[in-house]
Amino acid sequence: MCGIVGYVGEQQAVEVVMDGLRRLEYRGYDSAGVATRDPDGRLVVHRKAGKLVNLEKVLDADTPAGTLGIGHTRWATHGAPNDRNAHPQVDCSGAVAVVHNGTIENFEALLAGLEERGHAITSETDTEAVAHLIEERYAGDLAETVRGVCKDLTGSFVLVVTHRDAPDVVIGARRNLPLVVGLGEGENFLASDVTAFIAHTRTARVVDQDQVVELRRDGVTITDLDGNAVDGETFTVDWDTAAAEKGGYRFFMEKEIQEQPLAVRDTLGGRLGADGLLHLDELAISDEDVRGIEQVFIVACGSSYHSGLVGKYAIERWTRVPVQVEMASEFRYRDPVVGRNTLVIAVSQSGETADTLEAVRHARAQKAWVLAVTNTVGSTIARESDAALYTRCGPEVAVASTKAVIAQIVAMYLVGLYLAQLRGTRDPDEVRAHLHDLQQIPDLIAETLTRMGPIRALAGEIAEAKRVLFIGRHVGYPMALEGALKLKELAYISAEGFPAGEIKHGPIALIEPGTPVVVLATRHALSAKLVNNVQEVRARGARTIVIATDGDDSAAPYADHLVRVPDTKSLYAPLLLIVPMQVLACEVAKVLGLDVDQPRNLAKSVTVE
Ligand code: F6R
Repeated sequence: MCGIVGYVGEQQAVEVVMDGLRRLEYRGYDSAGVATRDPDGRLVVHRKAGKLVNLEKVLDADTPAGTLGIGHTRWATHGAPNDRNAHPQVDCSGAVAVVHNGTIENFEALLAGLEERGHAITSETDTEAVAHLIEERYAGDLAETVRGVCKDLTGSFVLVVTHRDAPDVVIGARRNLPLVVGLGEGENFLASDVTAFIAHTRTARVVDQDQVVELRRDGVTITDLDGNAVDGETFTVDWDTAAAEKGGYRFFMEKEIQEQPLAVRDTLGGRLGADGLLHLDELAISDEDVRGIEQVFIVACGSSYHSGLVGKYAIERWTRVPVQVEMASEFRYRDPVVGRNTLVIAVSQSGETADTLEAVRHARAQKAWVLAVTNTVGSTIARESDAALYTRCGPEVAVASTKAVIAQIVAMYLVGLYLAQLRGTRDPDEVRAHLHDLQQIPDLIAETLTRMGPIRALAGEIAEAKRVLFIGRHVGYPMALEGALKLKELAYISAEGFPAGEIKHGPIALIEPGTPVVVLATRHALSAKLVNNVQEVRARGARTIVIATDGDDSAAPYADHLVRVPDTKSLYAPLLLIVPMQVLACEVAKVLGLDVDQPRNLAKSVTVE
């Protein structure tokens, strides 16, 4: 949520910063801005409402020179997305420029004090308070000034700051939100995530809670808020720029959908031993403690929550340990009963989602074991958990999650099988057989991707619908939720997912002649009941789009449109069912002429509660 870049080096800063912002635009895209220090020692600030392309036009007409700069792409929290509220925010004298991700909770009190002391406040942002505080307190040491200001801020923030009178330094600071340093040769970078600078360097350093970074051309110093030097952990980014490019596709989402067989393969890779069993070395919780677990909570948001729901079916089936899946935003506020016998699994692609992070903190404070399932190495959720199981699907750029969700579902199966293996609730041969089946999934997803013609053909019809319902039973139910979420976030069509058995208790009233109902009709013990539900909606005029497994003809007679996916064990069906729904949402958005990668009002990484 908001993308931030800082640069000091030998290249033209505006080019480096804009290139970084392009790669971070998925984090927010309602306005953008850059500040550079030009060769005459002036701070030049450009800000523009709308997507980055609007700022690009401004910069094309008036390109600022200079080798030090900061930039921002915004997802608005305080103040409408207009030029005035875009970042960088500046002080009264134009000497200080600040970009900010997060929310400063005490900004009203700070601004009131600043106004009393004669500062002219020109925006509706919380960020502007920081610029004026730095203006007031700067006495020649920008890092020291920022450390002092940070102590007076409550809330969450990443700040990147430049000052006209500090010609060769950019300062970064963080609390609760991500900030990484890129270490180059004669140049250094600050960014919300590594994608912003991997074209220049793959060596990165983590910035931890309440730390301040002094970024210079020839070096980087990190301190705590008292000015004590700290050693940041350095790591190498193991993917390159190609992984973060569109690779010939019109949209990142299309590319990421196609990458799903690889995402599953990479998430399974290296975790199956020669004995055919699971080896999750990263699960840094002792075998004894894993055996002591009496209940599991899965906490997550959005699509990751849907992955968690699939996890519940798998973990309960294989381990007989009770599993509850909770929206992370609700978890801590209802004071859940968790303790040392509890495993909390936090599922998050970004590893930075504020709701999930707070759930993790709450769980750890209650002494529960916390396992992060995340795609982002070194993310805050990974670092604050007892252990992290990484979904290794590479960078996901499209705001709507696809390959990360598939990889999360695979990770859920791995956790379930691992618990079963360790606790002895499943015979080793059965675990081996499951793992063998999972290894077939990449090919089955690839096969599913070749069958998307009928879905694409349907897009025009669905684009005209007022509302669309998705129904499924068992593991088809979380996928119904996921199908509905994808369609509403990408195509802005009202869509709801329901357990098929539930629609007669109310939602069936939504059905009018012609209402599309997508039926996730996988083969399982409830197939016959699902067929009844399909007949019920059809009798009320619904047009049914049935996604059925090869060889299962039970719902076919009631399908206005029939889409087939390959057969697999019913528990693994979500990994195939999800594909037509992703393609459907993507194609409908395309028909409607919408921006598939950057749907309105959304951001990829939601770092506010
Ligand atoms: C939907 C989507 C979101 C995310 C949710 C959680 O396509 O992407 O619903 O799943 O915001 O994000 P993470 O997984 O980063 O915690």
